[in-house]
Amino acid sequence: MAEQATAHNERREQGHVPALIAIGVIASLLGIALGLLIDWFPTAASEESGPIDTLWDVLVIVSVPVFVLVTTTVLYCVWRFRMRPGEEDLDGPPTHGNTRLEIIWTAIPAFLLVALCSYAYVVLTDIEEASADPALEVRAVGEQFTWTFHYRNPEGGQDVSSAQLYVPRGRQVHFTVQSKDVLHDFFVPAWRMKIDAVRGVDTELRVTPTRLGEYPVVCAELCGLGHAAMRQTAHVVEPQEFEAWLQERVQLAAGGGPAEGEEGEQGGAADGKAVFEAQGCGGCHALADAGTTGGVGPDLDEALADADEAFIRESIVDPSAEIEEGFQDGVMPKSYEQSLSPTELDGLVQYLAEVTK
Ligand code: CUA
Repeated sequence: MAEQATAHNERREQGHVPALIAIGVIASLLGIALGLLIDWFPTAASEESGPIDTLWDVLVIVSVPVFVLVTTTVLYCVWRFRMRPGEEDLDGPPTHGNTRLEIIWTAIPAFLLVALCSYAYVVLTDIEEASADPALEVRAVGEQFTWTFHYRNPEGGQDVSSAQLYVPRGRQVHFTVQSKDVLHDFFVPAWRMKIDAVRGVDTELRVTPTRLGEYPVVCAELCGLGHAAMRQTAHVVEPQEFEAWLQERVQLAAGGGPAEGEEGEQGGAADGKAVFEAQGCGGCHALADAGTTGGVGPDLDEALADADEAFIRESIVDPSAEIEEGFQDGVMPKSYEQSLSPTELDGLVQYLAEVTK
């Protein structure tokens, strides 16, 4: 009797299989279509974006059916084998191993994993290959909570540094990524490339920007209170424009403020508003004149209302000296004295004193 009932149940169970397969196929196709139609990423702006986006599409195509298979099976079993009233004390039929099934469900995922990993490995080694032409060397240094970019001085002097990332279009850039303190992660989503910045270790990343424009540089590793504010801009410009910009940075670094004997001459201070904007100060600070509303740090219109230039200068180069009530020490980088040239710092101080009066 019992055996007959089991055989009968099994036949009924098998009757559901075609319907389940049909549901699975339709759900997989819908899932894949949705996965491919949705624009997951920002505009692709580098040579590397193409292969990365294709890799993503392949992952979607392969993993959606797996997801659908698992979910359909689980949902079906939850519905089909649910407990009915009066069955509270019953135990299910004893289940024995099924060797064939176990081999299949081990072999298929293993094969899929090895195949996808090999494909991803090939794509990654391929896009990280050094270009035939010499790459532009840029050192990206992360610290709580900013990036500073160092360029080799074409005239052979000291490296040139900038809080803004400028790169020419169409030339490979070789980034050496470093950290001064904790773990950060250098990430330009439009380029699809990211790498951890680890203190004491140089990590590398190669990218060839192909599209002009401005793209966010972000930190992709939770690194403390100001993590969300650790955002800057990558400017992709034409090669001539890049050369001109680098020249200007070299001169700023070399000029370093009014030279002795030239005091009083105008040109001693850079355009403070431009410095404020270029450094991304507004990402953290509200300032009416610059139209910024950042709330990570103090509102400058309020905090600097009665401040003199000496106080403003100290607040920029040594932000720990005096902490505004309600804010914490250690969020604002302490490196502006190094990363800004003296003329930029003068300009910024004068500008802030002027507009917050
Ligand atoms: Cu640096 Cu997050």
